[in-house]
Amino acid sequence: MAVEPPAASPAGLVAPVLTARSGGGPKHVALTFDDGPGPHTATLLRHLAAHDARATFFVVGRNVAADPGLARRIVAAGHQIGGHTWSHPDLTTLPPAAIRAELARTDRAVRAATGVTPKIVRPPYGALNATVRAQTRRPMVLWDVDTEDWRLHDTAVVARRAIRQVRPGSVVLFHDIHAETVRAIPRVLRCLSARGYRFVTVDQLFGG
Ligand code: NI
Repeated sequence: MAVEPPAASPAGLVAPVLTARSGGGPKHVALTFDDGPGPHTATLLRHLAAHDARATFFVVGRNVAADPGLARRIVAAGHQIGGHTWSHPDLTTLPPAAIRAELARTDRAVRAATGVTPKIVRPPYGALNATVRAQTRRPMVLWDVDTEDWRLHDTAVVARRAIRQVRPGSVVLFHDIHAETVRAIPRVLRCLSARGYRFVTVDQLFGG
């Protein structure tokens, strides 16, 4: 779970860093989708519903503000929403006040759209340092399985990478802004279901 030593902060804030649930246990996996919501998110929601799968969406605040109804549908379907900043900057390049503003503006957009405030954060590019972690107590959620879907744009390869690398407790990184990724999801859900996996939210994976 937390792999870095805690960073000191005058305010006493230190975000824990989560990558995967270690130690085996039940065959649970957290599929996570970054950078949306976008034009392919509704299709993804249909795929997830068809397999009774729960997932986690790390949303970009300005995309939520552009389509609050889509964010509302994500939550209504039982999925978890995490914050992925307002404008997707590398937070390690920003001063503390700007980091907090990126998180707070996203929180407001998600709350306005869905009524819930994100309990978890994923920093863009997984870029973290002590300054970033000192701006919130909320867990910073990374991943142990990287499909590299943003680079590959290949449905079969993305599905294969996910299916081959998943272990019990894995957190899998996808981006639902890519059509090829969303097209890979039915196969991922079918194959992993056949191997006995259940698809849970990040909250359920680490807390449930
Ligand atoms: Ni991102």
